Amino acid sequence: MSVLIKGGRVITAADDYVADIYIEGEHISLIGQSLDVQADKTIDASGKYVLPGAVDPHTHLEMPWRGETTIDDFESGHAAAAFGGTTTHVDFCIQGKGQTFGEALEIWHGKREGKALIDNGFHIAVTDLKEGGTLEELASLPEQGVTSYKLFMAYKDSLMVDDETLFKTMQVAAETGALVMVHAENGDAIEVLMGEAIAAGNTSPIYHALTRPPETEGEATNRAIQLARVAGATLYVVHVSCKESVEPIAIAREKGWDIYGETCTQYFFIDQSFLEKPNFEGAKYVYTPPPRDKSNQDILWNAVRTNVLQAISTDHCAYLFKGQKDVGKDDFRQIPNGGPGLENRLQLIHHFGVREGRISLNRMVELLCTNPAKLFGLYPRKGTLAVGSDADVIVFDPEKKATISAATHHSRSDYNLYEGTDVVGSPEVVLLRGNVIVEGDKLLAKPGSGQFIKRARPNEELKPQALARAV
Ligand code: URP
Ligand code: ZN
Ligand code: ZN
Repeated sequence: MSVLIKGGRVITAADDYVADIYIEGEHISLIGQSLDVQADKTIDASGKYVLPGAVDPHTHLEMPWRGETTIDDFESGHAAAAFGGTTTHVDFCIQGKGQTFGEALEIWHGKREGKALIDNGFHIAVTDLKEGGTLEELASLPEQGVTSYKLFMAYKDSLMVDDETLFKTMQVAAETGALVMVHAENGDAIEVLMGEAIAAGNTSPIYHALTRPPETEGEATNRAIQLARVAGATLYVVHVSCKESVEPIAIAREKGWDIYGETCTQYFFIDQSFLEKPNFEGAKYVYTPPPRDKSNQDILWNAVRTNVLQAISTDHCAYLFKGQKDVGKDDFRQIPNGGPGLENRLQLIHHFGVREGRISLNRMVELLCTNPAKLFGLYPRKGTLAVGSDADVIVFDPEKKATISAATHHSRSDYNLYEGTDVVGSPEVVLLRGNVIVEGDKLLAKPGSGQFIKRARPNEELKPQALARAV
């Protein structure tokens, strides 16, 4: 099967030019002007952007946690992703207490098999080095294409690890070249603050934010950076939400340390006041770290523009408002933490980032496609448009108007974080390895066609020292 994408504006992290793209089988085989080739299918992309398929490095599909399981599985979550132009994601395989990493990975592979519509990989979330997984087993995972270790510094009731586990994992990563990812919040302090709030009768969703002050994120971010430095590991801080964690990352990077970070779409648009919505609606915005004071939004835009942060993910962790979030009606601590977002990242960052002049088109591609691919060992197979790369392509109509709504989204969640938001610009056609998986409002991908990708180690060229040399 061959496909010719004709006359579009080809945008990568580095380039912006009008060209044709010729795809043979699963790969891009030619890029050039007015290509003289015959193809089985021709897509007219004139007036459109042609972008690399987006890569989401942070999702939680079919994740059981605290008695609830996230509502999107590897089929519905992938449908949402595909409509949003995301063709590859890396999900968190969470080690259950007492489980080996191999056992956890087997369970997570079972979730994707026969369902996956887009390409996928796993980070391993280390929760237990005492009874389940061993350091030796952890060291063997990069050979299986699992090249990132995730640790939660919060959620004392479930996923949190102590500093010993964090540090030993960092030491293994320093040996194996895997990337260490941290959820950076001080879980002990938060546990005390939550207990005090409940004892004082403060049970509503706003207390989710008030018991997780930004300083608890800043402290844990700084601790993780310093420990990574001692261990000699490369660190990636997930879902950075506020000035208190942006600052230590900026300082570390100025020193040339191997520290990276992402923020997520929701932190640009949703602030702490959303948690005070009446009729328990605030529970829709209970995710962690919590929505912050609005002043942080400009700080985050500035951080992604200036490369203090290298990626924007979704942290898609979808629940139902009715039937799941409401288990926390009388106690904010019981509200399942997380929100949907896989489908709308590109639309929102394009509209409010690019159209409104906060970041360039090239930088948008870098943040949503190229850098996640480089950091998570998928580049140059994914994350760019180049001869030999997988033909993961978005034909994006920059003028198409859309209103974001749960009524039309493809997640199984019964609400959308951005309900009613008008955007200009949406994916029109999406290809995964040369196959059209979305065309207009039609989903053409077949369950089971998304592949597990064995990932390489992070790409050296992103390191602060290498960037400094390049300037
Ligand atoms: O609230 C969130 N973010 N839920 C998913 C788990 C995590 O901390 O990423
Ligand atoms: Zn987290
Ligand atoms: Zn997450």
